[in-house]
Amino acid sequence: MDPVSAKNDMDLRVRIGDLRLPNPVLTASGTFGYGREFAHLVDLHRLGGIVVKGISLEPRPGNPPPRIVETACGMLNAIGLENVGVERFVGEKLPWLRETGARIIVNILGDSVDEYARLAGRLAGVEGISGLEVNISCPNVKRGGVAFGTVPEMAASVTEAVKAESDVMVIVKLSPNVTDIVQMARAVEEAGADAVSLINTLIGMAIDIESRRPALANVIGGLSGPAIKPVALRMVYQVASSVRIPVIGIGGITTADDAIEFLLAGATAVQVGTANFYQPSAAEEIIDGITEYLARHGHLSVREIIGGLQTGKE
Ligand SMILES: Cc1cc2nc3c(=O)[nH]c(=O)nc-3n(C[C@H](O)[C@H](O)[C@H](O)COP(=O)(O)O)c2cc1C
Repeated sequence: MDPVSAKNDMDLRVRIGDLRLPNPVLTASGTFGYGREFAHLVDLHRLGGIVVKGISLEPRPGNPPPRIVETACGMLNAIGLENVGVERFVGEKLPWLRETGARIIVNILGDSVDEYARLAGRLAGVEGISGLEVNISCPNVKRGGVAFGTVPEMAASVTEAVKAESDVMVIVKLSPNVTDIVQMARAVEEAGADAVSLINTLIGMAIDIESRRPALANVIGGLSGPAIKPVALRMVYQVASSVRIPVIGIGGITTADDAIEFLLAGATAVQVGTANFYQPSAAEEIIDGITEYLARHGHLSVREIIGGLQTGKE
């Protein structure tokens, strides 16, 4: 087959739990708004899916500014999970997004297990939602601010509670700010997660040396972008080698080559985050680039390269 027709026939479909995606490229939560913000720049229906900005039961104002700082090869943010709350999301944001025909995954967050469960229950049966992504990087107010995603038992209880209330596929999004990411992934897999996505941001900080003040009003924030890619890739490789559920790779993915690294490391799909801010066409270019790579290497389906890493230790 000549390379051009091979490209046209390329099968990019992947499955995450019972969700079938036309291709493995999604946009990451918090970096693509509720989709509409990017609609004049990106063909939303073409994307594998859109993970919308994290929502909570009640609206949240977020942290005071400055909330975003650029670093040498990434970005620090302390948005503080600002969002419109679940009722406005369902009433005002979702209907428009649903019309585009894009696959929609809703990222949810809460301060207690009960809040996660109530959110999942509120979204159950709502038309147009293909899955939930559970952000467990939020502090548990009842446990004195310890993030759910740093204690396996807490991550497992959130997962169980969300699964019990939800009627769609549940992805648990892991935090890299732990000693052993594999332990976290296994805990949520045992608790019933249909998939895991990783990584969320790494905790970092920056200082303005003239004012001698922290660059972020919140002092510390989440580091994302190319700086975190090697850490994310390592964690995805370790987790994909240790669990049976699908893994979605996130962290510094900017080009098709980055995405292919994650697929080879065992990710079934990827999410593009920080890159959307400075290159809104990144996700679409990544879809094209994966297609081109597969054709060049004589593959007919993207599934042929998932987990295809040769470490020499097999
Ligand atoms: C400004 C900003 C806001 C974010 N908001 C959320 C969020 O609401 N929920 C969530 O799970 N992750 C959130 N994230 C994390 C991203 O989804 C992603 O996991 C992280 O940025 C790493 O990917 P990247 O290096 O491609 O950006 C946010 C990231 C940024 C930069």
